[in-house]
Amino acid sequence: MRERDLFGSGHTGINFSKYEDIPVEATGVDCPLNVETFRDLGFTEIIRNNIALCGYDKPTPVQKYAMPIIKARRDLMACAQTGSGKTAAFLLPILNQILEGGPSPDYYCYGRPCYPMALVLAPTRELASQIYDEAIKFSYRSIVKPVVVYGGANPMQQMEEIKHGCHILVATPGRLVDMMERGKIAFNNVKCLVLDEADRMLDMGFEPQIRRIVQSEDMPRVGQRQTLMFSATFPKKVQELARNFLDNYIFLAVGRVGSTSENITQKIFLVDESEKRSFLLDLLSGSGISQQNGIRPDSLTLIFVETKKGADSLENYLHRVGYPVTSIHGDRSQNEREEALAAFRSGQCPIIVATAVAARGLDIPNVKHVINFDLPSDIEEYVHRIGRTGRVGNPGLASSLFNEKNKNVAPDLLELLTESKQEVPEWLVAMSRDVAHDYRMNHRGGSRFGGAASGRRYQSGGFGGRDYRQFDRPPRNGGPVNPPVGGGATRGPPTGGYMQSSYNQSYSSGPSQMAYNRQYQPAYTSPTTDWFNQ
Ligand SMILES: Nc1ncnc2c1ncn2[C@@H]1O[C@H](COP(=O)(O)OP(=O)(O)OP(=O)(O)O)[C@@H](O)[C@H]1O
Ligand SMILES: [Mg+2]
Repeated sequence: MRERDLFGSGHTGINFSKYEDIPVEATGVDCPLNVETFRDLGFTEIIRNNIALCGYDKPTPVQKYAMPIIKARRDLMACAQTGSGKTAAFLLPILNQILEGGPSPDYYCYGRPCYPMALVLAPTRELASQIYDEAIKFSYRSIVKPVVVYGGANPMQQMEEIKHGCHILVATPGRLVDMMERGKIAFNNVKCLVLDEADRMLDMGFEPQIRRIVQSEDMPRVGQRQTLMFSATFPKKVQELARNFLDNYIFLAVGRVGSTSENITQKIFLVDESEKRSFLLDLLSGSGISQQNGIRPDSLTLIFVETKKGADSLENYLHRVGYPVTSIHGDRSQNEREEALAAFRSGQCPIIVATAVAARGLDIPNVKHVINFDLPSDIEEYVHRIGRTGRVGNPGLASSLFNEKNKNVAPDLLELLTESKQEVPEWLVAMSRDVAHDYRMNHRGGSRFGGAASGRRYQSGGFGGRDYRQFDRPPRNGGPVNPPVGGGATRGPPTGGYMQSSYNQSYSSGPSQMAYNRQYQPAYTSPTTDWFNQ
């Protein structure tokens, strides 16, 4: 492959410099200091050259903070907005570590299991494949060999690939467990384990597989390996669970945890279920896509629906009315999924209808418009979905069709819109108030909503506000919160907004909190929703 094809033209958005103003908070014992430039990191020449070939002039905020922490071999839970460069934040220091330690050239695995030095887990096949592509770029002209394994692809071919050796393995959990059980991969040599989209990897759908991998006999224990977790959202309950996999870790929050980029303009429309299709056509023609001039490679539209059936049906409808459209969901064969994504990326089909399978991590340039034809039932999913646009400082538009069915997400949505300085429709404020009122009536004695319609996500532990370790004890008499665990580096507005006492009190446990969680936690086990796609 030619260098130009491999690296393309590095893209940096027009608002890239705005990133400098994002508040960053790192908490934990003896937190390593951040850097300002790639040069400060002292990477090996190969890595430095590859950063230059990618066209990265300076590190993004999450990179400035996370890379020194990873270099210092500390465990890390890092939360930064969608499209802010988390992949490079973990791949570059890991590859550098492998190169510095000297990867064995004699790493063929014929007749024995393969022993990767680093393992990256991701929730979907397409995301695993994308991370692998990034690893190939960053390890260009080096001896380091990245390999990817994921479901749906030919396992024999993947095993053959592994036989030739592997330093950094990117995998979806299901296929990895399968290979591990067949004795093709062993973890004894793993120095670094990464969970990308960590909150998703530790939710009910994936957790058993993750435990199977992380607690397998040959995986080095917590403290003997380095463990890194990355996501744009980290609900408190996931932070608590994640603690079992981490040793004396640093919690890094870039911007508000779980918040969206201000580069994304968010619009919420109240549309009756029966009117949704005609409203969608208006939206499409409003954004300049019409049946006649469908092909606009510089402007792609991603439409999310809740179910696989819904995806098929909406794709058929748009096709019938003349739009160049494709779709991706978990019932499609891997070939079909890859073809659909390729047609979308290239602009051959500038509209794609997708389920949750495309919500996380995918980095597709030119996605100008994300449409939530169906809104998701939890706000984290919303944050990730709309994060497919407005990446690396580029502007983006996210439109969501809201109706009575979505009212449970109204308070969280209201808070998110307010926080990211978006226009808030009056009806959403009223609806949030109603939901809060109904909740109070059904759960007397537990004032979950604290008298205001907003604040719900803090009270549910929804997004997670920041390092939950700081909130173990509520402040006395509304006094200051606990200091950061063992100190740490803080930049930007020190604590504004995070530190309200309602936030601290919100993490109380007890029967009504449990009832609340039962009612509002996302239904990852839903038979109709397309969660499982590895
Ligand atoms: N320092 C940098 N300078 C310019 N572009 C960068 C830099 N670092 C990463 N990028 C580019 O930013 C884009 C988004 O990066 P990435 O996919 O890692 O974001 P992310 O934070 O993981 O988002 P998500 O939460 O959606 O997974 C990629 O196209 C990547 O090449
Ligand atoms: Mg990512």
